[in-house]
Amino acid sequence: MAAATAQPAAHPAVSLVNGYQPIWWKEAVVYQIYPRSFQDSNGDGIGDLNGITQHLDYLQKLGVNVIWLSPHYDSPNADNGYDIRDYRKVMREFGTMDDFDRMLAAIKARHMRLIVDLVVNHSSDEHHWFAESRSSKDNPYRDYYFWRDGRPNPDDPAHPLPPNNYPSYFSGSAWQYDAATQQFYLHLFAAKQPDLNWDNTKVREDVYSLMRFWLDKGVDGFRMDVIPLISKQPGLPDLTEEQMRDPSRLWANGPHRDEYLQQMNREVLSKYDVMTVGEAIGITLPEQTQITNSQRHELNMIFNFDAVRLNRGANYSARPWTLPELKAIYDNHARVLGKADWDTVFLSNHDNSRLVSNWGDDSTPEFRTRSAKLLETMLLTLRGTPFLYQGDELGMTNYPFTRFDQFDDIEVKNLYKATVLTGQMPEAQFVAETRRFGRDNARTPMQWSDAPNAGFAPASAKPWLAVNPNYTSINAAAELADPESVYHFTQRAIELHHAHLAFVYGDYQDLDPTHLQVFAYTRSLTEPGKPAQRFLVVLNYGQKPVAYTLPAGIKAGKLLLANIPSTTEVGATTLHLAAWEARVYSY
Ligand code: NOJ
Ligand code: CA
Repeated sequence: MAAATAQPAAHPAVSLVNGYQPIWWKEAVVYQIYPRSFQDSNGDGIGDLNGITQHLDYLQKLGVNVIWLSPHYDSPNADNGYDIRDYRKVMREFGTMDDFDRMLAAIKARHMRLIVDLVVNHSSDEHHWFAESRSSKDNPYRDYYFWRDGRPNPDDPAHPLPPNNYPSYFSGSAWQYDAATQQFYLHLFAAKQPDLNWDNTKVREDVYSLMRFWLDKGVDGFRMDVIPLISKQPGLPDLTEEQMRDPSRLWANGPHRDEYLQQMNREVLSKYDVMTVGEAIGITLPEQTQITNSQRHELNMIFNFDAVRLNRGANYSARPWTLPELKAIYDNHARVLGKADWDTVFLSNHDNSRLVSNWGDDSTPEFRTRSAKLLETMLLTLRGTPFLYQGDELGMTNYPFTRFDQFDDIEVKNLYKATVLTGQMPEAQFVAETRRFGRDNARTPMQWSDAPNAGFAPASAKPWLAVNPNYTSINAAAELADPESVYHFTQRAIELHHAHLAFVYGDYQDLDPTHLQVFAYTRSLTEPGKPAQRFLVVLNYGQKPVAYTLPAGIKAGKLLLANIPSTTEVGATTLHLAAWEARVYSY
């Protein structure tokens, strides 16, 4: 495909909608593809770009209109592509640049858009920048990364201690000793993911240039991996005991974060009609607006972790939570974020366990389908651009892991070494917790049919990660044939979202913030000269049936969407909700 020339961002004199500047990425429904697990087209057991192209009609029919593609770049796959060796090359296992261009053209032909993952807090240690950097202290690329002398080790002088006490997200120290120059380099993630030094102007220029490379091809924006971490603390001092409890807070708030994002916006993003979403670990809700307020010219929106991590303690431990806590998060977002900000809504991705297993109820087939539909209803009617993760539209579940050796993820492997192998946690507890929250749950292959390997790969292939044995009943082919499936319900929920701007720009009102089991809210939009749009969403978040009386002045109008369509209760002020029942009315 011919490279398109950079287009200046359109700033049409459109009128505001409920105070918001209307634009396509606010109205989008995004679908995340984890390419390794989507569709293997050539029988090597690894998903690939041609596999994605094969399924674009499926996605178009579902109704999503933006695809976020997890990293597709050349990588040694220490962290499944989140460790990039060459930012301008397609991962060999995923195909060729021609395959990418064909996929992009096919996406555009279906009036969908593509955003790609931008992983530039760190590169792979196999990137040529790092190969140069590690080769000698005076190499021109030395300063592309963070190199420091170790601290003297009184017990073992031949083996110096790391330069500071930073822990890695993937267990152990964030510093790796490198014998070639006898210094340590910084890696907040795996040792094969050295952190890039954004304080070096050349690093920033190189990043902007690779961003232009993909934008000039026609991609429609970026999901930016751990982007707030790009500005490191000057001098890299030790974390205090207090900071050690949540190092992300400090790491995400370095002194030059906004300056660098503004520069990136000025030099690159502002020249194209794109959407940007930053993965914002360590950013609190009030800080969020520093990045997303449109007057600041940084990013359009971020993923805030408040909701998705509500049920998690440290590592993979569970944290008891209540529905009012979840509602409080959404209420706070609506209160704190202004008309110049934009938000995302998501409860799953490739780093979390499956939507329905994590937030719904997969204990019986009936509860699984019903709660999956309830969750899709919620994601598509709350405030913010919804991000759906592959397979959740089928109600795919967590994998029944029973042993450590079934896991592939580097995060799991490193955590095992740091906890089980040091005797800090019994193996059985580790496996139980990882089975509940481990990232591999979301990474098992897409379940396309009841054919061997779930149709993800030919029968003769060995998928890179085991297929969930429940593929014989939970799969796309079966769901496409069943009008009451989670897939078809999700399709209707997406259609509803697209049909009414109230779900995009409308006000959000939580009707009952303290109710322990019912989540009831309205979305309403009044535009001059148009009939008011008023929607009522009622979700019974649990197994217990409940008779729920709406607040005074509100009664159920027309039923627009329901996961048990036989009961309508149009005109009622008390709704009789079955287990995991979800309804959307006008009111
Ligand atoms: C966040 C990504 O979502 C995750 O998958 C990855 O392991 C880390 N960033 C490091 O890139
Ligand atoms: Ca393949």
